[in-house]
Amino acid sequence: MSNDIEGPALAARFPSAFAWGAATSSYQVEGATDADGRGKSIWDAFVNEPGRVVDGSNGDTAIDSYRNIEGDVALIKALGLNSYRFSLSWPRICPDGDGRVNQAGLAYYSNLVDALLAEGITPWITLYHWDLPQVLEDAGGWPERATALRFAEFAKIAHDALGDRVKHWITVNEPWCAAFLGYASGEHAPGRRDPSASVAAAHHLMLGHGLAARAIKAADPEATISIGLNFYPVHAASDSAVDVDAARRVDGVQNRWFTEVALRGAYPEDIVEDFKAISDFAFIEDGDLETIKAPLDILSVNYYSRFTVTGNGGATSASAAPTGAGSAWPANEHIGFVSAGLPVTDMGWEIEPAGLTQVLTRLHTEYPEVSLAVTENGAAFPDKLDDGQVHDLERLDYVQGHLAACADAVEAGVPLVGYFAWSLADNFEWAWGYTKRFGLVYVEFETGERTVKDSGRWYGDLVRRARSIREAE
Ligand code: FCB
Repeated sequence: MSNDIEGPALAARFPSAFAWGAATSSYQVEGATDADGRGKSIWDAFVNEPGRVVDGSNGDTAIDSYRNIEGDVALIKALGLNSYRFSLSWPRICPDGDGRVNQAGLAYYSNLVDALLAEGITPWITLYHWDLPQVLEDAGGWPERATALRFAEFAKIAHDALGDRVKHWITVNEPWCAAFLGYASGEHAPGRRDPSASVAAAHHLMLGHGLAARAIKAADPEATISIGLNFYPVHAASDSAVDVDAARRVDGVQNRWFTEVALRGAYPEDIVEDFKAISDFAFIEDGDLETIKAPLDILSVNYYSRFTVTGNGGATSASAAPTGAGSAWPANEHIGFVSAGLPVTDMGWEIEPAGLTQVLTRLHTEYPEVSLAVTENGAAFPDKLDDGQVHDLERLDYVQGHLAACADAVEAGVPLVGYFAWSLADNFEWAWGYTKRFGLVYVEFETGERTVKDSGRWYGDLVRRARSIREAE
């Protein structure tokens, strides 16, 4: 098997101070949705609507991480990781979406942070991984400016409580998904299908990022600020003008829209033109773009796949769940996503490790001032637990291929500071419920029992090798 051959050579190709991690998010793993004064999030409401989740499941129990700090930390340690990325449930800490703090909810994260640090594992906190307090959605949600202001307050509350021990802060995870799957296609909570509102939501997510980043930096200039964006190389299906234009549009909305405003303080003009069909941009106030261009230390890259697009029809998004969703591409409904003939994961996402090198080198060329981290990368496959083992060789190959792609980027001069596998363990995969497994660790959903998969063992071996090579230097 390739791991014996590739592992040692690959391990030596990473920098010394490297964050080797795995990632999760609150609603996907915590469960305990009624515990200790937690408020409701938009996902609690959404999963109760018939037809929203393919298997009719929800995150009420998830993989019970809220009650299993010790077990989760022991797993992270057993894998040899030195970093763990998790998110805070905003309604667990601020049940009313305002400044009232639920100390019991905060205590969970404080205990988790302490348990990680006690094992030498560095926490990377994501402040928003999609579980907006339902009370804020009732007041209009992300299309409303006030939500960005509430988010900044929440960021300050979280940082005041944890910032003495936590240095790595990712403000918002994948605002593209939160805005366009949440408010345009309706595939994700809150399940709205309002193209105009989705563009406003995207802006307020970024405004929330800027305000939160500034609040944290003001409190601790040493804090490391990041935002998590999901990137895809976008290829035109042919040289025809209409396909080339489709690639420009998808690249613009998916990739350039968020980086340009976060790092350059301006939305790309061509995409502003495209979006004029559905938005008057009246929600942008003086100073917003400057606020969004907040000091950024690390750009967090979530990478899974590539896109090939045509301007000749086909309305679906490559990632759409079969839950009757509308288009996630407002003003671009004429665009179709086609196969390039590559192997796919259980999500139907095409596998292209070289695309990760392309994304990283492009970002470094365009934004040389910022370090990069891969904060999500992984694959769903239909695993089988067999006699206490999970031989997930396809996932092992996926992780190995993408780590080699990271090493290629490092050797091309990209300042890459970390890699986080998605995910530490199988969990609640949004509209797909428990039907898609992304973990390095297999979870028996009935009992919560955890079993490290072959991919997890391989990754753990690689990390241990990489760390010991560097420690020996
Ligand atoms: C990303 C999400 C993460 C998980 C993976 C598969 O878009 O950030 O929560 O669902 O996809």
